[in-house]
Amino acid sequence: MASIRYADFHRRSLEDRDGFWREQAALIDWHQPFSQVCDYANPPFARWFVGGQTNLCHNAVDRHLADRPDQNALIWVSTEVDKETVYTYRQLHAEVQRMAASLLALGVRKGDRVLVYMPMIPEAAFAMLACARIGAIHSVVFGGFASVSLASRIDDAEPTVVVSADAGSRGGKVVPYKPLLDEAIRLARHKPSNVLMVDRGLSAYDRVEGRDADYAALREQYLDAVVPCTWVDATHPSYTLYTSGTTGKPKGVQRDTGGYAVALAASMKLIYDGRPGETYFSTSDIGWVVGHSYIIYGPLLAGMATIMYEGLPVRPDAGIWWKLVEQYKVTVMFSAPTAVRVLKKQDPAYLSKYDLSSLRALFLAGEPLDEPTAKWIAESLGKPIIDNYWQTETGWPILTICNGVEKAPSKFGSPGKAVYGYDVKLLDEQTGEELKGPNQKGVVAIEGPLPPGCMQTVWRDDKRFVNTYWSSIPSKLVYSTFDWGIRDEDGYFFILGRTDDVINVAGHRLGTREIEESIASHPNVAEVAVVGVADQLKGQVAMAFAVLKDPSKVTTPEATLKLEGEIMKVVDEQLGAVARPARVRFVNLLPKTRSGKLLRRAIQAVCEGRDPGDLTTIEDPSALQTIKELVAAPR
Ligand code: PRX
Repeated sequence: MASIRYADFHRRSLEDRDGFWREQAALIDWHQPFSQVCDYANPPFARWFVGGQTNLCHNAVDRHLADRPDQNALIWVSTEVDKETVYTYRQLHAEVQRMAASLLALGVRKGDRVLVYMPMIPEAAFAMLACARIGAIHSVVFGGFASVSLASRIDDAEPTVVVSADAGSRGGKVVPYKPLLDEAIRLARHKPSNVLMVDRGLSAYDRVEGRDADYAALREQYLDAVVPCTWVDATHPSYTLYTSGTTGKPKGVQRDTGGYAVALAASMKLIYDGRPGETYFSTSDIGWVVGHSYIIYGPLLAGMATIMYEGLPVRPDAGIWWKLVEQYKVTVMFSAPTAVRVLKKQDPAYLSKYDLSSLRALFLAGEPLDEPTAKWIAESLGKPIIDNYWQTETGWPILTICNGVEKAPSKFGSPGKAVYGYDVKLLDEQTGEELKGPNQKGVVAIEGPLPPGCMQTVWRDDKRFVNTYWSSIPSKLVYSTFDWGIRDEDGYFFILGRTDDVINVAGHRLGTREIEESIASHPNVAEVAVVGVADQLKGQVAMAFAVLKDPSKVTTPEATLKLEGEIMKVVDEQLGAVARPARVRFVNLLPKTRSGKLLRRAIQAVCEGRDPGDLTTIEDPSALQTIKELVAAPR
């Protein structure tokens, strides 16, 4: 493999698409072989491995029982409740069947949705794998989201069952989940028939008679459960995962089964170089796409042990992750630039305290990797640092360095080159023309069909899939990532930020429209604009500018601060603290064009101390001036 030039490998993946993916498909088990590699007769809807039948849970768990039943599969470490539990493949297999039997007992059937609203505990992994086992479609909602976010996802997914827990814990503080879930179900139009509760004994909760089931009791009944894998078509949806976009309503990214299994298995070999029997440690959360692909499915498909970590990177001290690397001989690690920036502020001695010789590389993704952060961690670890650029929509990297194909150097500030299977183009936003020359700025786009593992459609909304992703570039049916980028003369891409209203706070993708809708629900808010502003630690933070219905409420600094706090609380309660803006400022007017369009990019520029650019269409320049002065003024 090492003798293949990456450029040739990439070219073949596009020119001999079916041959290439047929080879990769051999990395997983098929119950029934596929008859067609890719059906793209109805663009942009791609169907991969048509006619084939498989099962994600079989490939992630059962398949390894023959070769590695007693090797570690799931290593759960919680520094929140001071527990460590290790499940071998045999034990994981048993736990997944107990969970699967419990879900079946609650009436879950193939194709039904199961919403998972859980902290980072093993039962969350069991629930995901159990769904895959019985052909149910899981929809994990990040535990940091609150009731209004949760309610909108419940209404869209219409789950038969919600799996949840009494509470999570953060920094040693109990964070109750159940009251938020109860409130979400109260708000939602759709009512799940059952809630399956994992009671950690952290927070007492009210049990809803006839609806809430206790997992410990059900598990006890199904200790010896044998639940065979349900073979499903390769195109059967494995899960949906909600993500933010330009509108306030989150989109359910729908993933298939066969394509996803093949894509992840291939990525474990060609990108992450993770080998069976080794340990993979991704510091993400199961509520995000990285958690789906690289805490749960990817490592398990590869026959690796995966670490699921509940806790902060700096507690009990900033050496905790490195301690785990030493203890479990982690070979592949995956994190986000924000986490590295947090560690960078701590004592560097923690990095030399542990034996990190097992570690081959650290992969980072989710947000731009700035040069100082990349340099610091590369020097401190003395290991390759590999940036990955991708999206919830794609499920696995679009841009990176595929060291499993050909070792190649990284360039600071660049996530690397187009990954095999992806026909990445830079297009002019106005004309749709391809920008072929080096260092030209354009929209990062992907020519269809999207490779295996990428989103099939928007859950129950094919039209939205086409209209959102495939119609934004004039006169071309091409997938838009909604990111700006450039490519240098060597084919390395540089990502320059989103073209839409999505912001990235500490690697968490948020829609400014959702935050605006939440703020606007405060009785004194007439109008509001939320923009993402560069932040040294978190990459970006949300800044809100609100016009009040009754400005007489904020005539003193104390009153202003009080109202700001009140509004933040609204966001905390509705969406969750992840979406809370760093500041809410009050203005008399928002900068708009004469046709009434909010000038978000101008507000963002002013907040970042940049030139707002062309303002010829602005209705009243004083609106932007006020924001400029507010931002410049000391708090
Ligand atoms: O703007 C890009 C940014 O995060 C977006 C996708 O976020 P999400 O759906 O949460 O998926 C994260 C999967 C890793 C992208 O549209 N982004 C992601 N990775 C990078 C990045 N920006 C710069 N460099 C990256 N490596």
